[in-house]
Amino acid sequence: MVSKRVLAAGAFALSSWASVQGALVQKQGLTVPSYAVGNASTVRTMFTNSWNAYREYAWGHDDLQPISKTYNDGRNGWGASIADALGTMVIMGLEADFLQAVNYTAYIDFSTSQTPDTVSVFETTIRYVAGFLSAYELSGFVHPILVEKAKEVADKLMYAWVGNNSLPYGYVDFSTNSPTITTTNIAEAGTLTLEYTKLTQYTGNQTYATNAVKAAAYIASLPDPLPGLAPQGIDPTSGQFTDAYITWGGGSDSYFEYLIKYPRLTNTNNPIFVETWQAAVDSSIKYLVRESTVGNWTYVADRDDNGNIVHVGSHLECFHAGNWMLGGKLLNNQTYVDIGLKLADACWNTYASTATGIGPEVFAYFSSDGNYTGQGTPTADQLAFYQEHGFFITASDYILRPEVLESNFYAWRITGDTKYLDNAAAAIQSLNEYLYVNASGGYAGTNDVNNVNSSLIDDTESFWFAEVLKYLYLTFDDPNHISLDKFVFNTECHPFLAPPAGAYATPTFKTNTQGFKAVGGPLPEISPNSFLPKSINSILGLSG
Ligand SMILES: *[C@@H]1O[C@H](CO)[C@@H](O)[C@H](O)[C@H]1NC(C)=O
Ligand SMILES: *[C@@H]1O[C@H](CO)[C@@H](O)[C@H](O)[C@H]1NC(C)=O
Ligand SMILES: *[C@@H]1O[C@H](CO)[C@@H](O)[C@H](O)[C@H]1NC(C)=O
Ligand SMILES: *[C@@H]1O[C@H](CO)[C@@H](O)[C@H](O)[C@H]1NC(C)=O
Ligand SMILES: *[C@@H]1O[C@H](CO)[C@@H](O)[C@H](O)[C@H]1NC(C)=O
Ligand SMILES: *[C@@H]1O[C@H](CO)[C@@H](O)[C@H](O)[C@H]1NC(C)=O
Ligand SMILES: *[C@@H]1O[C@H](CO)[C@@H](O)[C@H](O)[C@H]1NC(C)=O
Ligand SMILES: *[C@@H]1O[C@H](CO)[C@@H](O)[C@H](O)[C@H]1NC(C)=O
Ligand SMILES: *[C@@H]1O[C@H](CO)[C@@H](O)[C@H](O)[C@H]1NC(C)=O
Repeated sequence: MVSKRVLAAGAFALSSWASVQGALVQKQGLTVPSYAVGNASTVRTMFTNSWNAYREYAWGHDDLQPISKTYNDGRNGWGASIADALGTMVIMGLEADFLQAVNYTAYIDFSTSQTPDTVSVFETTIRYVAGFLSAYELSGFVHPILVEKAKEVADKLMYAWVGNNSLPYGYVDFSTNSPTITTTNIAEAGTLTLEYTKLTQYTGNQTYATNAVKAAAYIASLPDPLPGLAPQGIDPTSGQFTDAYITWGGGSDSYFEYLIKYPRLTNTNNPIFVETWQAAVDSSIKYLVRESTVGNWTYVADRDDNGNIVHVGSHLECFHAGNWMLGGKLLNNQTYVDIGLKLADACWNTYASTATGIGPEVFAYFSSDGNYTGQGTPTADQLAFYQEHGFFITASDYILRPEVLESNFYAWRITGDTKYLDNAAAAIQSLNEYLYVNASGGYAGTNDVNNVNSSLIDDTESFWFAEVLKYLYLTFDDPNHISLDKFVFNTECHPFLAPPAGAYATPTFKTNTQGFKAVGGPLPEISPNSFLPKSINSILGLSG
């Protein structure tokens, strides 16, 4: 890939960075076959059913409890489901619901938590800040209140960065504007770059981007047990890792995810992000990828503090398949795409193999190098299940998570293979058959994906609205709508407008004057509105 971009300042190894800007991700000319398009309206109905129940029994609260028809407030009581659902409503064309939700948003009081809890920097950023900013873009920049509310909560979250620390603490007490001084993890500290460069873009205040980018760059600059693969725990006070546990699963996951998404979103001239992502995937291929002894399914193992390979996988981890495919397309490396597709197949196998057709929270497997899973000896039932399916269930619940369907969406948009439409259609059927409470309740989780009569979990997580239903809907929608060549999705499935692929935006850069260790080069300065499209409709893929 030849770059025609001229460097603004400094000379860095830019070949892989430049490629991030150039390559197209989606299969060109893709359309959804007519026999499958009807699934989109099925998903839209699933959304409106759930939303009507939320509005009736939980309005203004974080989660609906669909069975007891009440609510709970696990995200500080500011209405997490509303923030998370805004963008989905725009994408599905639910204008009246959207305007009502924006109206609610205008009155949220972010000066204090509505619950006695401290506030998670990570959870609040990926849901509230991202939900508002993505909806601001998707709805055509006509609701500036969404930027104002994102700024309001972000200004409180900025108290997580103390003194000269590069890393934020994980939780802030909004009544004292001070963080809880304790260790955090690389996902919490390193999954803020997309959101805060967007907030900087729309407010003109550099602090948000500077804080988020210095945290991720700092993690990437530390020496790792395996090249590129940062361990999970980290202490903002000392700036040191607190363990050596390597995983693409929870606690680490979205730090790796954003290493490739951030440079695509911003045109940063700091090569550390792409290079670290590439090192992480290369090391994973070399040291962690395993095939199961039954079924030859491809998994990415964990590696524990003692260097043991741990043969486990999880629903959360299954985002990796789509992320490797995305990075493979952006960097023009088919090896990453091909392994990503194998990972997606193995993740889908965890759905296809259960009695409900829905995949479990955590699972394990054996490979030719051993059967260590970090847990006790499997039961006879687990071993029998393994002999049939090439994995066995170690945590059987499903709480309306998206990751398997997320990677399935990437696989569809990237390859155009209709088997991914069949997978998504099967998932829609399973969700409706086993998790639908009733017309007045919406959808619940389940305690056992391998039992069609399992008890349900009385909670509709906000990511059901943000992620599961959006990924499913977009799988069957016109592929030009929210194209992967025009948007970068945050880890909660909130799409952000990206600079055009194949063309080069011309951001300006400023020298780092923030007093923290600069790694690999100066930080980007995002000029407000520098990436605004000429026509929002053309970017959204709507005609006109
Ligand atoms: C959903 O897609 C599947 C194919 O993947 C198709 O068989 C089915 O008829 C579609 N459903 C609707 C409602 O269009
Ligand atoms: C919906 O399900 C709940 C919980 O099982 C039940 O209390 C309620 O009566 C049901 N409503 C309808 C309309 O079936
Ligand atoms: C919200 O809706 C109410 C009732 O329609 C209206 O009076 C109010 O002005 C709206 N507020 C905003 C910020 O749009
Ligand atoms: C930028 O945001 C930071 C963090 O909230 C705040 O402390 C600072 O005052 C803001 N700067 C300006 C110029 O508004
Ligand atoms: C922060 O860094 C500056 C510049 O290196 C230094 O002068 C200052 O003492 C540091 N502050 C703290 C609290 O460590
Ligand atoms: C793609 O990645 C693989 C795996 O790390 C590597 O062996 C190969 O050289 C890369 N190919 C290109 C074209 O960069
Ligand atoms: C198992 O999968 C690996 C990687 O996908 C492949 O190289 C190998 O040929 C497969 N082995 C068998 C026996 O199918
Ligand atoms: C795990 O491997 C060990 C050593 O090869 C063997 O003794 C043990 O039976 C295996 N356990 C299972 C459940 O396969
Ligand atoms: C599930 O419950 C139905 C209705 O009570 C019953 O007919 C069926 O046998 C049960 N299935 C299993 C696998 O327990």
